[in-house]
Amino acid sequence: MIFSELAENLGGSKNPLYLLHDRLKSEGAKIVDLVRGNVNEHGIVYPPDALDHILKDAAAQTRIYRPDSLGQRPAREAIAQYYKPLNIPADQILITPGTSVSYWYCFKLLAEPGDEILCPQPSYPLFDYIARLCGVQMRHYRLAEARNWAIDLEHLEQQISKRTRAIILISPHNPTGMVADEQQLNELAEIASHHALPIISDEVFNEFLFGVSAFPRVAATEAPLVFTLNGFSKMFALPGIKIGWMVVSGNGPLVRKALSALELISDTFLPVNEIAQFAAPEIFRRGQDFLKHYVQWVGLCWSTITFSCIPAISTISHQTTW
Ligand SMILES: Cc1ncc(COP(=O)(O)O)c(C=O)c1O
Repeated sequence: MIFSELAENLGGSKNPLYLLHDRLKSEGAKIVDLVRGNVNEHGIVYPPDALDHILKDAAAQTRIYRPDSLGQRPAREAIAQYYKPLNIPADQILITPGTSVSYWYCFKLLAEPGDEILCPQPSYPLFDYIARLCGVQMRHYRLAEARNWAIDLEHLEQQISKRTRAIILISPHNPTGMVADEQQLNELAEIASHHALPIISDEVFNEFLFGVSAFPRVAATEAPLVFTLNGFSKMFALPGIKIGWMVVSGNGPLVRKALSALELISDTFLPVNEIAQFAAPEIFRRGQDFLKHYVQWVGLCWSTITFSCIPAISTISHQTTW
């Protein structure tokens, strides 16, 4: 029996952090597990009573299945409202079952096997797996540690080749917490314009801003095509609800072309749970107080981590690919 190359080449070496974690655990060491990022396991949960009511009401709206390949309109309108200053119409928003799947959609939309996508280093390991599934190559650009992990734009531009198909921006960045400022974003947008490249902007941590007063978005620059990715997984500590989205913005014809292809990809699977989609507007509305407390809690952890863990992140980022 013949399996795909992917199936034949599973496995590979484990991240050194996990290896260290597993060894310490097997030795019975008392560890605070910051490696696994499931906030629910750390005691952060969306208010359960509110969620029960929201889901019950949403279920009542889904008795007759009437899917929408972009995602149910009330959900898309609630998301458009979230981005109000950008003035993005609901028709430029696609609902997905989470940001990881949004990445997969973007890679399928933009690249052929063997093409390259630029992503920051250090980073978290998800891209490598998604890229493997899509047959595309990840190429890394540096974040400059000495400048608070700002994007090394010169290095980024040097990494662009004939096969580059997109630039991934993660701001706020995981794991450094770097937030790209307006000047960096404008310069990034210029590079993207010059090389005719889309920017995939991962903003899943955009509610968690510490030490910065405003959050600049690359969607507000002159970049020719931007996919802004976000979802409820981090924002409302609801990874299991599986609601993510992509906001497509930029140059009109490019946006329209991207959206028609994305709609087709989404329509092929219609993968987003209808109850979760109908629940989305109320999750936003009733989640605001919870979000305030959650952000405060993360802020407290952040100040502790900044002093104790960032030096470790720095050391490890020089030693390994995350
Ligand atoms: C920067 C970043 N983007 C995306 C994701 C995945 O988000 P989702 O749970 O919506 O797939 C993660 C998960 O840790 C992340 O750290």
